[in-house]
Amino acid sequence: MSNASAPLSRSELEAFWLPFTANRQFKAKPRLLAKASGMHYWTPEGRQILDAVAGLWCVNAGHGRREITQAVASQLETLDYAPPFQMGHPGAFALANELVKIAPERLDHVFFTNSGSESVDTALKIALAWHRARGEASRTRLIGRERGYHGVGFGGISVGGIAPNRKTWSGALLPGVDHLPHTHDPARNAFSRGAPAHGAQLAEELERLVTLHDASSIAAVIVEPIAGSAGVLIPPRGYLQRLREICDRHGILLIFDEVITGFGRTGAPFAAQEFGVTPDIITLAKGLTNGCVPMGAVLVSHAVHEAFMQGPEGIELFHGYTYSAHPVACAAALATLGLYRSEGLLTRAKSLAQYWEDAAHALRDLPHVIDVRNYGLILGLELQSIPGKAGARAFEVFIKCFERGVLVRQTGDIIALSPPLIIEQSQIDQIFSTLSAVLRGQ
Ligand SMILES: Cc1ncc(COP(=O)(O)O)c(C=O)c1O
Repeated sequence: MSNASAPLSRSELEAFWLPFTANRQFKAKPRLLAKASGMHYWTPEGRQILDAVAGLWCVNAGHGRREITQAVASQLETLDYAPPFQMGHPGAFALANELVKIAPERLDHVFFTNSGSESVDTALKIALAWHRARGEASRTRLIGRERGYHGVGFGGISVGGIAPNRKTWSGALLPGVDHLPHTHDPARNAFSRGAPAHGAQLAEELERLVTLHDASSIAAVIVEPIAGSAGVLIPPRGYLQRLREICDRHGILLIFDEVITGFGRTGAPFAAQEFGVTPDIITLAKGLTNGCVPMGAVLVSHAVHEAFMQGPEGIELFHGYTYSAHPVACAAALATLGLYRSEGLLTRAKSLAQYWEDAAHALRDLPHVIDVRNYGLILGLELQSIPGKAGARAFEVFIKCFERGVLVRQTGDIIALSPPLIIEQSQIDQIFSTLSAVLRGQ
């Protein structure tokens, strides 16, 4: 048994290959979290750390929620596992119904997965299968966006637009994928509060791709409403609406990857509702179970689902996972949705957004700050890179904040924040005063 408060020796650190981590650097000076409750983590030595990123954009209701723990424990005792192929269990249906209640209108069917990456690959497969089911099998092209992050499956990295995630596997990416330009325009939009004013016309690039490839070859466009992992890129005003219009004009499915923006992050249950644009498919994960148990979901429109139900009798979609709609994950998700509902968490970001925005923009004149951008309870703080050392400045800020008791996230030279939605104003103050002190070098 491991002792949560004892430091790990170098040899004990060896076997675990950490994901998306500089392993040698980490193991030389590890950063461990041993306990969590509410807005906080504790290190093995007992140091309290304020969580300014909801774990990894997922612990929206805060840590250690007893309602979820109890639901999971009781589910394990009642029904630990049930096969999801040709069988069902009540929790799966209950959860699908609850999700549909908070989903944008017409997104009324749910396919369960175990992660955001699986949700993305599932959504892409459903899009291709949908066109085929309707007699348009030539529609195989997928369109993502530069700087998009859609997880790490081959589908996700193909439509994704982050070079280090793609280059190693460049020879094995899906064929027939194209990318829209990203919407980051610091020259015109730096220090925007909320959705930036400039850039809606970038959606017209989709028309260019339609002209190039012909609509008859294009299946779907996938974007994050707010790009998270590549550094918090907020959609320019009107941009998502234009994407929707162009997709409609050409019979192209629109997929919103809401793995980060789902479950209250923007101030509405989903960014689709916040921005007033309804896609055909939404991918989810993270906040679905408050990060407690791995689970993802794909919300599908009535029209998309219906086409599959018109086909020949038998299995409509040859796709699924051993752990699709796992009973324990369903129990965790149902309890999570219950907390979101009873505590008003799916809209709480709206009431805190102004305070958050004002606190964030107070950083604008600090050393190295070249942009502050925010939406709901999300922040992107961009720093001037040290020449020849991209990412080093923000990494140092991440380390110093951790040493001072605040967990932030670094991506390139951007600090991304997304605290649990239960955050209080005093904790917002703590996050920004810590960042301010670190940036001032105090
Ligand atoms: C928008 C988006 N899509 C997909 C994923 C992948 O999710 P997972 O890490 O659960 O596979 C992420 C993860 O951060 C994400 O932000």
